[in-house]
Amino acid sequence: MLGPVILAASRSDKMRRFVSAAPGTKQVVDRFIAGETVEDVIPIVQDITGRGLEVTLDVVGEDITTVEQSYAARDAYLELIGRLKELGLGERAEMSVKLSMFGQSLPSPAGGPSGPAAAFPNGHELALANVRPVVEAAAGIGTTVTLDAEDHTTLDSMFAIHQELRKDFPQTGCVIQAYLFRTEEDARRLAADGSRVRIVKGAYKEPASVALQDKSEIDKAYVRIMKILMDGEGYPMIGSHDPRLISIGQELARRAGRKLDEYEFQMLYGIRSEEQNRLAAEGHRMRVYTAYGTDWYGYFMRRLAEKPANLLFFARSILTK
Ligand code: FDA
Repeated sequence: MLGPVILAASRSDKMRRFVSAAPGTKQVVDRFIAGETVEDVIPIVQDITGRGLEVTLDVVGEDITTVEQSYAARDAYLELIGRLKELGLGERAEMSVKLSMFGQSLPSPAGGPSGPAAAFPNGHELALANVRPVVEAAAGIGTTVTLDAEDHTTLDSMFAIHQELRKDFPQTGCVIQAYLFRTEEDARRLAADGSRVRIVKGAYKEPASVALQDKSEIDKAYVRIMKILMDGEGYPMIGSHDPRLISIGQELARRAGRKLDEYEFQMLYGIRSEEQNRLAAEGHRMRVYTAYGTDWYGYFMRRLAEKPANLLFFARSILTK
């Protein structure tokens, strides 16, 4: 019941100001966000990779409102990739990006007829132009980028950008969400194309016209989609902390004849770390989605929405400060 209320709050500026200023917030945010700067996150990447796990790095931010912010997003990823290169971490760390942080949702013409991005007819083109150098830089250090899935209105654009990037960088990945009605068809297309695909349950507030609302129905859809990916030509990335889905994923991989390096598991930084270590110790490729940066509000609120106990913990830490 609380989840949808928290997800609605994740889009409210008033709540953003309240939560950001509340005493005690930082303590809870720190569980999910690995620092504010590249220098904060690097020791965490070294720790995770030192334990035999891989990472995917997310500079938090979404729904930016100016063209300058979209350039800043691109530059933040380029700075990160530069540091990974210096430290020789390229092959263990990939990037995850949200296209709404790269300008995808800006109105057209982006920046106005004479604005700084007048060369781009719309937000879609701007996001593509901003993400391409990031994908290119990632490829230059032996790694890749995965396009996160945001709310359903953004997905046609995300998949079109994914397809475009794959022409030059076939390793570029994308995310699909089990709760959406469209996803089985997307999974079939991506699996036939041999793409890297992360499957997740889905973290946004979506209407019943486009998405399943019942948790057990979402789980069943997740299993059907995992099977499509495991039986296909691509590289499945199982993004979940759900122990039942993880063991079904292992079984589907075995039945599809996949070796341990032909799929991977992914979990979020700060959630079920022992399970992350256990899967890695069993020989699985286990990647930790590690988010950092200052614009953490939307990401943090989605983590609260996923588990009501997090909200209680958060409320307690505010009240006791
Ligand atoms: P479920 O929510 O059923 O959780 C299973 C168990 O895991 C819980 O019982 C609890 O123990 C633990 N758990 C889960 N979430 C927790 C939390 N926040 N705090 C504490 N414990 C928690 N979504 C999206 O729409 N677009 C995207 O691009 C991505 N990307 C992404 C990458 C990766 C690597 C992961 C793991 C997830 C995402 N997601 C996402 C989020 C995803 O859609 C989903 O909301 C969460 O993964 C929670 O769903 P689970 O599959 O973990 O199951």
